[in-house]
Amino acid sequence: MSTSTRDKVKRLFNEHPVFWPMLKKGQEWNSRLQYRYYYKWPGHDHRASIKEVNFEWSSSCNLRCKFCALDHDKPKQIMSPLVLRRFLDQYLEDKRFHQIEKFNLYNGGETLLHPKRIEMLQILKSYREIAVERNIPFPVISMLTNGMLLRRKLADQVIDEGLVDEIGFSLDGGTPQSFEDLRVNAKWKPFYENVFYVARRIRVEHKPIRIYGITIVPDDQPLNTSWMHPEFVELSNLFHHHELRRLHDWGGQIELESKGVALKNKSCDLLLRQMVLLPNGDITVCCNDLNSAGVIGNIWNRTLWENYNSEERRKYLDYIDSGRKSELDLCKDCQSF
Ligand SMILES: C[S@@+](CC[C@H](N)C(=O)[O-])C[C@H]1O[C@@H](n2cnc3c(N)ncnc32)[C@H](O)[C@@H]1O
Ligand code: SF4
Repeated sequence: MSTSTRDKVKRLFNEHPVFWPMLKKGQEWNSRLQYRYYYKWPGHDHRASIKEVNFEWSSSCNLRCKFCALDHDKPKQIMSPLVLRRFLDQYLEDKRFHQIEKFNLYNGGETLLHPKRIEMLQILKSYREIAVERNIPFPVISMLTNGMLLRRKLADQVIDEGLVDEIGFSLDGGTPQSFEDLRVNAKWKPFYENVFYVARRIRVEHKPIRIYGITIVPDDQPLNTSWMHPEFVELSNLFHHHELRRLHDWGGQIELESKGVALKNKSCDLLLRQMVLLPNGDITVCCNDLNSAGVIGNIWNRTLWENYNSEERRKYLDYIDSGRKSELDLCKDCQSF
């Protein structure tokens, strides 16, 4: 398991919380400068600030994790291949979006619940091939899953056809018992077997797929794997990266301090860098919005650029920059960014 610089910084600031407000201030100023560069200064019409797009292929989920904000009573929606194609056509056509680094296959819900999941992945792959032919950069395709549906046959197809560049698994808790307690409806044994199979194949056969884990660590345990169940440690050792996090905010380790700073923050990196495509073609502003509260438009009514540059989306950016975060329903209670 490798430790990223970001994790080291998180750990440092967890151990020395007095520096946390300083880091947040630095981030805020950097983000405010970027806001001006991308939305105000001359030439802003020729550049887009988006670095990541999240795709929500399925709005529903097979699990009921205790901490998850997903509203399981909302209507269940599945993204049609046409919506995905419409988005990807616009990506290819508009070079202002060619600086996007990642297509994340997750938002609310579980990506692998999509009934045409392989067809959807193959569509992405075909657009990547077109991009390569036209010498257009194509973002990393990264899927995050709860792992319960990624059984051998499906895993083999995803790996053998090279349908993703990165696979992430959520394995919260640190022990089988707390995993099952937090991730309601999940069972550790089949989950472990699924993840072990995928991770081992990728490692042993040197497949060009990055594999990572995300673990929410209970407050009474340290942010390392020393106390975890041996099977958690075994998976962790197979991952290229393992993010250990607390509930809430960026990393979430310093709840009181970060809460105070975040409420006054005049910037939001997620808002600047992200867009989320929902199953019906709606676009929402960031991945903190699991229930469509921040929808700013739809890709069938407007182009990708028109949505990006729309009054509705710019209102979020303008309000945050002018200290009016509390007037935005989606953002007012956000303690993360
Ligand atoms: C919303 S889920 C969607 C993807 C997929 N269904 C899954 O569980 O991996 C994305 C990630 O957010 C994490 N997550 C959900 N609620 C959280 C919270 N309140 N604090 C920290 N992480 C959370 C999940 O554990 C998961 O790793
Ligand atoms: S965290 Fe993921 S698996 Fe759990 S309920 Fe939310 S969307 Fe489903």
